[in-house]
Amino acid sequence: MKITFLGHASLHIEIENKTLLVDPFISGNPKASAINIETLQADYILITHAHQDHVLDVEAIAKRTGAKVVSNYEIVTHYNTLGIEGHPMNHGGSWQFDFGTVKYVNAIHTSSFADNSYGGQPGGFVIEGKEHSIYIAGDTALTYDMKLIPLRTKLDLAILPIGDNFTMGVEDAILASNFVECDRILGYHFDTFGYIEIDTTAAKQKFSENNKELLLLEIGEHLEL
Ligand code: NI
Ligand code: MN
Repeated sequence: MKITFLGHASLHIEIENKTLLVDPFISGNPKASAINIETLQADYILITHAHQDHVLDVEAIAKRTGAKVVSNYEIVTHYNTLGIEGHPMNHGGSWQFDFGTVKYVNAIHTSSFADNSYGGQPGGFVIEGKEHSIYIAGDTALTYDMKLIPLRTKLDLAILPIGDNFTMGVEDAILASNFVECDRILGYHFDTFGYIEIDTTAAKQKFSENNKELLLLEIGEHLEL
């Protein structure tokens, strides 16, 4: 599994010869200006919730690539009305896709589209591939529900928001790492705009003091599992 950071909460994941995009917010992020949404490939676009900083480029990319949207029922229905195909899910449900199994799990947050229409309830994704499993938390507070994840899935990587203000901050992300029983964390949802700017050196230090690894990728940089 190859995971490329596209800035903010946007990820590009190559798994079993398929390409997944997660929460594409690229054209509205000046820090991601090196990423061209016109050339991004995608078989699936996974969407955690309807906020603009997670869905901005979904329509353009889905219409160009024919990628299928995977999200909660309300978000998938929204994109259906725009002529985009999707796979609707809801909390606690899993589906076996051609690249692996996806489970839509709880997140504590809100979910509305830019026009204030209802975006269902926000979530995160547990993706179980043939060889590796990851958790993409989406925008969320620390929640005890995270403890349910390791009861079913041994994670190789947890992707957690660390920017605070709208989501967990660093201290809560360290507790989340305990809850999901995964000491290897990829941090996201930080530094994109003023409210979520953090001291990344201090963040890494805090994780390492807790015998955990906080990975932070440059935009366009990737890691492999
Ligand atoms: Ni949000
Ligand atoms: Mn967000």
